[in-house]
Amino acid sequence: MKHSSLQTIHDEHASLAAMLRSMRALVDGGPGDCPQQYFDVLRAMLFYIDEFPERLHHTKETRLLFPNVARVAPELQELIARLDRDHHNGEKAVRELQHLLLAWELLGESRMPAFVAACQRYLDFYLEHMQLEETVILPAAERLLAEEDWRVLDAAFKENADPLSGKYPANPAYDRLFTRILLKVRNPPQQHDDAP
Ligand SMILES: [Fe+2]
Ligand SMILES: [Fe+2]
Repeated sequence: MKHSSLQTIHDEHASLAAMLRSMRALVDGGPGDCPQQYFDVLRAMLFYIDEFPERLHHTKETRLLFPNVARVAPELQELIARLDRDHHNGEKAVRELQHLLLAWELLGESRMPAFVAACQRYLDFYLEHMQLEETVILPAAERLLAEEDWRVLDAAFKENADPLSGKYPANPAYDRLFTRILLKVRNPPQQHDDAP
């Protein structure tokens, strides 16, 4: 792949998609005999989404990638407007999930269905969002953007250094968080037949 920003975006999508699939396996499997670990890991995953992709990945797509693609591929403007709305709503959606999870943890089982339903909706929405970027937006960008556009994009995305991708030196500030998440992403839990 020619442009480093494109590679960075692909890498970030891949690590985020792996984590979202792992989150789905966790949610489908339920807390089982280890509720504390279950809530800890889900909380860490939601915090990560709020901390990294919401702040660095989506904002740069909205600010730098989408306007350039919309300029050179006007037929994609409608889709880009939708993806932009997704970015705009994403932060609120992940905060709501954090609240729903906390409600289940602190207030008990009666609050579980609301979290599970919202989480499944969120995972579908997020995976579809990235799929559209991967299959429509990025190929159009690769085909149509000029070298000058790529210089700006490459410089901006180089600063991201997503700690979950495993491609960058460890940042001690994230160590504790990612130890929890990576254990689950690399060793996804088996689904339990007695899932709630
Ligand atoms: Fe996006
Ligand atoms: Fe993206």
